[in-house]
Amino acid sequence: MTSLAGWNFTKFAEGIRALGISGPPVSGILPGAQHGTDELMTNFASVNFLDLQRREDVMDVLVDATRQYGLGSGGSRIVQGVTPPHLDMEETVAAYLGKEAAISFATGTVANIGFINALANTQSFMPGLAMVNRDTVFVYDRDAHWSLWKAAEGLKFGERLFSFRHNDVESLEEVLKEQQGKRVVVVLESVFSIDGTVAPLHEMVEVCRRYGALSFVDDANGFLVYGPEHRKFAREYEGLRQADFVMVSMKKAVGLEGGLVAGPRDAIQAFELLSGTGSFTAGMSAPAAAGTAYITRLLSEKEPQIVDDYLEKVANFRMKLLDAELPITETETCFSSVIIGDERKCVEVYGAFLEHGIRVPPYLYPAARRGQAVLRIIVNAAHTEEQMDHLVEVATKLRAQGLF
Ligand SMILES: Cc1ncc(COP(=O)(O)O)c(C=O)c1O
Repeated sequence: MTSLAGWNFTKFAEGIRALGISGPPVSGILPGAQHGTDELMTNFASVNFLDLQRREDVMDVLVDATRQYGLGSGGSRIVQGVTPPHLDMEETVAAYLGKEAAISFATGTVANIGFINALANTQSFMPGLAMVNRDTVFVYDRDAHWSLWKAAEGLKFGERLFSFRHNDVESLEEVLKEQQGKRVVVVLESVFSIDGTVAPLHEMVEVCRRYGALSFVDDANGFLVYGPEHRKFAREYEGLRQADFVMVSMKKAVGLEGGLVAGPRDAIQAFELLSGTGSFTAGMSAPAAAGTAYITRLLSEKEPQIVDDYLEKVANFRMKLLDAELPITETETCFSSVIIGDERKCVEVYGAFLEHGIRVPPYLYPAARRGQAVLRIIVNAAHTEEQMDHLVEVATKLRAQGLF
């Protein structure tokens, strides 16, 4: 029998058990405004904040596509291929993002890893079919998502990998100035889900252009929510449309699973091989692709009011939190966090909310900066006034008790 002596698993497992977060919370219902098995909690953790999966028409699309194409792909996209819904979805989303083409992946993380792999590495498949990228340089927003940093782990910081201060245009420009003459990829994120901040993409993408750098925007959190002129952050999203590449995740507004990178046609085609994640792992499922195409049209053309109503709800919800003098993050996006700071304290406050039947998840390092743990509150389109008021009431009570 293999011995685990010398490994730290037992001590580590004891540590997380002591925190009370040894396993994922279990729920027997569709993810959304509530969560649980026998006793339902009010849930402010779900990132599928528009609650679209519950709609009959969306369910029909998912069920029909499952019957026609199945849930399993049968292999990776380059070997087994894709289905008509994949092609439809990639074309629809690329057009929505103002790009020539798109390639889909199983998740946003897999898309990010594939993108960075394609641009960071030298790959030779056979004589005449090679990509030499050993000199490319990456410039990241310091607070970029874990998946992007993970993908760049093999790049030496200070040589091929640099960072700039979060959402700071001047800081980005300083770094780009020093890297002039090199092939540079700037990695940006539109909406940061930990603190709700929005990048000044209109300025950042312009700076990238000026310095001849490629721009890549991870729009996991804003896809299908922000962009139209009458909504907040229209200027920032005009910048996103100018970026060379955009990545989106289907986990958030769409409420399904999948990821996609959109950009110039030849580059997207090259990613079929260069991403690695298009060849060595399963792609997005056909039902998720069909559902994403349907929802993209629903939210951008047929019923944009769904998003407008939701954003109004976000504004009202934030007003309730602010009226109660709760210390939430400043930017008005779907992500409102309370900064708790200390990681253990944050888990403790999470536990206190649970005792009142409310789930507001703790985000600790490395999701948040070290020592800046947050409780992240996402209002769901299906939350009732009573559920929102209950959260405010409990938060006010716990705050009065000095918990945060
Ligand atoms: C900014 C950002 N990028 C990428 C991802 C990863 O997306 P997925 O969950 O589809 O892997 C997330 C997920 O939360 C995210 O917030």
